[in-house]
Amino acid sequence: KTSKLWGCGGRFSRGMNVDLTQLNNSLHIDKRLAQQDISGSLAYSKILCQTGILEQAEFEMIQSAFQIISREWDGGMIELRDDDEDVHSVNERRLTEIIGEIGKKIHTGRSRNDQVALDMKMWMKKAILDILDIFRNFLGVLVMKADENIDILMPGYTHLQRAQPIRFSHWLLSYGFFLQNDCDRLKQLFERVDVLPLGSGAISGNPFNINRTELASLLDFKNVTMNSMNAVSDRDYICEFNFISTMISLHLSRLAEDLIIYSTKEFNFIKLSGDFCTGSSLMPQKFNPDSLELIRGSCGGIFGQLTNMIVTLKALPSTYNKDLQNDKQSMFYVYDSITLSLKVMCGVIESMDILEINCRNALSFDMLATDIAYYLVRKGMSFREAHHCSSKAIDCAERNRLGINELPMSDYKAISEKFNDDIFDIFSFEKSVEQYQAIGGTSRNSVLSQIACLKKYIDNL
Ligand code: ARG
Repeated sequence: KTSKLWGCGGRFSRGMNVDLTQLNNSLHIDKRLAQQDISGSLAYSKILCQTGILEQAEFEMIQSAFQIISREWDGGMIELRDDDEDVHSVNERRLTEIIGEIGKKIHTGRSRNDQVALDMKMWMKKAILDILDIFRNFLGVLVMKADENIDILMPGYTHLQRAQPIRFSHWLLSYGFFLQNDCDRLKQLFERVDVLPLGSGAISGNPFNINRTELASLLDFKNVTMNSMNAVSDRDYICEFNFISTMISLHLSRLAEDLIIYSTKEFNFIKLSGDFCTGSSLMPQKFNPDSLELIRGSCGGIFGQLTNMIVTLKALPSTYNKDLQNDKQSMFYVYDSITLSLKVMCGVIESMDILEINCRNALSFDMLATDIAYYLVRKGMSFREAHHCSSKAIDCAERNRLGINELPMSDYKAISEKFNDDIFDIFSFEKSVEQYQAIGGTSRNSVLSQIACLKKYIDNL
């Protein structure tokens, strides 16, 4: 006897081809939706009871059977069979095994298209909240690290060449603000996912005049879908989820890349903790940043899943087609990968040491060339002209093998009469960073307000 929900007619008497069975069965993947599927069925049975399709006693039997099935899944006791197609089939099979004929009423007016759309959205809502929880923790750690190390200065880089002195915290927080946008994207996505599809049938809707608004509130959805054909075929939110995760993993990858560079002996700005590194089976001195490389490397899979979903949907004919079955693998893969990367990155940041002296020693006075130009601007010169003069001073110092701070006053004067002895006051990295007082800059106050801003964001997350 088959446990297929559709296989009783004569046309299927030979049974499904074995290879197709393997291609078709999705239970090994969609069993992660078991509890969502049960909650959906529980709510649906309540609504069926309201319409008179189920009697109160039948409804109560269904409720208690599903409680048993839920515990079976939780305890890993559920018996799965080779010919169970998917999680929906298992749950309905178990229901009828437990309460017999009455169980066969649960699917009245409902389709698996309906069910899978609901289960996916329920799972996705929880996934988004889980990821936001991880973010709350991670951003908290990042902000704390920035706060604790507010006075550490280091070179800021453009083109990976030393550019201007910055606060270490300013660099770290730059990623905090990328990730803040990612959180916003997730929150916006949540609103779009929070629309109940159940009650759409296979394609055309529900013929038993069920109260979908009440169904939505039973299942904790804010709204209901307005078009059943749209509802059973909508997987846009998975594309969006994969895109947002793509952006998150891209940001983590850039952060990982910076950290890998900063942890090399050549830079030596940070020391990663041993519990986030590995050694070499051959070279005893090695201390490899595998955690960060794995985070950087996991982007490929996530980007691939974005492509997977958009290509699956492209030119898919209207409503449900079995191609859509692959959506779950994509969603689970991306969720597993992104949550793990976020947690590992959080640990890396929390446990790393910032080597203040090395950061400091990497600063050189030529990085204050722009400050020389600003000095002249403050004396009334146009910036273009001032840039010119500063670059002449840099050239002159280089020719004489001197630091820009060691160039004699006579040389400065030869470049511009506007130079005075106070030019030597600018050769302080502290002073340099402190001039960037405008919102968003690297001065102490500005970085503190960045911290305050992110802290407030985290509190409301
Ligand atoms: N396992 C299927 C999926 O995940 C459920 C929907 C099946 N619908 C159907 N018409 N065969 O997409």
